[in-house]
Amino acid sequence: MPLVPARLEHDADGVLYSSAFGDFYHARDDALGQPHHVFLGGNGLPGRWQAREHFTIVETGFGAGLNFLTTWAAWRADPQRSARLHFVSVELHPFTVADLISIHARWPQFAALAGELHAQWPVLTPGLHRLNLDHGRVTLTLYLGEAAEGLAQLVTRADAFYLDGFAPAKNADLWSARVFHLLARLAAPGATLATWSVAGSVREGLRHAGFAVEKAPGFAGKWQMLRGGLERAPSPGTTAPAHAGARHALIIGAGIAGGTLAERLTERGWSVDLVDEAPVCAQGASGNLAGVMRPLPSLDDNRMSRLTRAGSLHGWRNIARLRRRGLELRAEACGVLHLGRDARQEEKMRAVVERLALPAAHLAYVDADTAAAIAGCAVASGGWWFADSGWVQPPSLCAASLAAAGARLRVHFGRRVARLEPGVDAWRALGADGRQIAEAPVAILAAGTGVRDFAVAHALPVLSARGQVAHLPAAAGSAPRVVVCRGGYVSPAIDGLRCAGATFAVDDDDNGLRMADHLDNLAKLEAMLPGFAAHLDANCLDGRVGFRPASPDRLPMVGALPAAAATGAISAKGDIGARLATLPRAPGLYALTGYGARGLVWAALAAEWLASRLEGEPLPLTRDLGEAIDPARFLLRPPHGGRIEE
Ligand SMILES: Cc1cc2nc3c(=O)[nH]c(=O)nc-3n(C[C@H](O)[C@H](O)[C@H](O)COP(=O)(O)OP(=O)(O)OC[C@H]3O[C@@H](n4cnc5c(N)ncnc54)[C@H](O)[C@@H]3O)c2cc1C
Ligand SMILES: C[S@@+](CC[C@H](N)C(=O)[O-])C[C@H]1O[C@@H](n2cnc3c(N)ncnc32)[C@H](O)[C@@H]1O
Repeated sequence: MPLVPARLEHDADGVLYSSAFGDFYHARDDALGQPHHVFLGGNGLPGRWQAREHFTIVETGFGAGLNFLTTWAAWRADPQRSARLHFVSVELHPFTVADLISIHARWPQFAALAGELHAQWPVLTPGLHRLNLDHGRVTLTLYLGEAAEGLAQLVTRADAFYLDGFAPAKNADLWSARVFHLLARLAAPGATLATWSVAGSVREGLRHAGFAVEKAPGFAGKWQMLRGGLERAPSPGTTAPAHAGARHALIIGAGIAGGTLAERLTERGWSVDLVDEAPVCAQGASGNLAGVMRPLPSLDDNRMSRLTRAGSLHGWRNIARLRRRGLELRAEACGVLHLGRDARQEEKMRAVVERLALPAAHLAYVDADTAAAIAGCAVASGGWWFADSGWVQPPSLCAASLAAAGARLRVHFGRRVARLEPGVDAWRALGADGRQIAEAPVAILAAGTGVRDFAVAHALPVLSARGQVAHLPAAAGSAPRVVVCRGGYVSPAIDGLRCAGATFAVDDDDNGLRMADHLDNLAKLEAMLPGFAAHLDANCLDGRVGFRPASPDRLPMVGALPAAAATGAISAKGDIGARLATLPRAPGLYALTGYGARGLVWAALAAEWLASRLEGEPLPLTRDLGEAIDPARFLLRPPHGGRIEE
């Protein structure tokens, strides 16, 4: 279902109002009194977050974000606050950023915090969005869509609940028995709740779901409010820290997979030993001049479509975040044209755009004339226009991530790990001479195609897919001015060159440039931009060869590795999630690979997911997408035919 944004409406007194629900967003007289009295006070905050490492609040109805801003400000003002604050909220009708800016202008005391929120506010697309705020100390995990669907898909443990729908009589969906049961399932031990509503149906529904509730003095014209806590034992299965010992990780591989993870872990206070056989970072598949970062939509918004959308949006947010820290990063959201192969595919692309109905600033259909005007040169057809996508230089993403990681990162470049062995409470990376390079209680295999050399990763069907790109001389500002794709891709001019690629050959270890591949890339180029390749001589072209760590289902492999004994312990019962949950895992051992032809799309979100998993934070992917990238998924499937596609 396409998202319908909220309409910005006020009543005659200027109070924020929803005519769709016939109710106000906040108390008429004192908009901020309610968050303080009902939601903070009703949950025993700030006291309950004090001296905690993490504190997680789950809210129903993000609305104008006033509860969030009030909570964030109160948390900042508390010298004894938790090390990190996680705010998770669901919202069916989000405001556009322009409307939020206009709403928040009324509360100048929030100007700085609201400005940070606005800078990262997502384009209004369905699904989960992770915002890293306040130097990473505050995370906002926002599900845009129907509350019951979102809550069923959240992987988090909540310490406090804010129940803040419109009046139950006008907004029954947000106060349903199903919502209350889903909330109870997310409750951490000792979780509390608060709401301004004392409606009998709300009290009854909460009790039925397992919460004990009591009335307390209310606020702003309401005599009473409700507060309570979970009465029964918390549900098993919600996220707990995957690692409870010393925050120290060993990462093997300093490409975009390992590099981005090193930064996400060090920001959380981890120390990281990063080992790579190359003398500097990003010398493997991640060494290209430029790659494309954009989603791959589909008519049924399938897993690939939702994951690539989430990955691209998070990837661009990650770049903006690193730049705000003053780090140099070569990337440009210049826009990406994905041209249709033929008239039939163009028609399908148009249907996808109509069905998904995403904001045009994110995905639009353009005809061939419009596409040509955007590109600045003749194009073969119309197709998808991703105005907020573009190209990224992977080595610069890697270098910026390592620079941001700072003193908590120790790099061991020029060291090949020959073996990874379990030691006493730690994984040990050993060189070919048997000498230890580094050890840590948590080890992450981010070695690209090199993952196949590790016995502990034998269950992962990582394939090597050779790819060659051509480097074409290009004057700054020359056409095409945007990235153009169709079978292959071509970038705009970047430092005097443009990338045209790429070939895709599985299990081909030749690392030399090939004339046949140059010709293949030029043919792809000519097919998308007629006349463009005519004057290019393949004999004079330079380029680069890399080996993608590919996955049979084209989805990445991110998470705990199955234990050696796992194959014999696969449960035949239950859905995929239940079967994955019962699979034995190798303690402290994780994979971050299988990025295939979309490493830029996966890198930032996969790193954020794994770091969140290790810390027991709310996960930035819905449950089904987390299962889709689980490295153990291949154990549940019959052997594949081996065919993979770019
Ligand atoms: C031609 C080509 C075009 C591409 N275009 C795009 C694109 O347009 N968009 C996109 O999103 N993606 C693209 N990709 C894919 C993307 O580049 C990869 O998915 C990504 O770089 C993989 O990153 P990685 O960190 O997993 O692997 P790598 O970058 O290969 O990093 C693995 C690292 O591990 C190290 N290592 C391996 N074994 C050991 C060991 N035993 N000991 C120590 N170190 C070890 C290696 O030296 C290497 O540095 C392209 C790839 C290629 C080849
Ligand atoms: C009272 S407002 C929330 C105010 C908000 N907490 C704040 O601090 O500004 C209720 C919100 O719930 C949202 N909502 C209503 N029904 C919903 C549903 N079924 N799923 C998710 N959100 C819903 C509305 O769009 C509205 O933004």
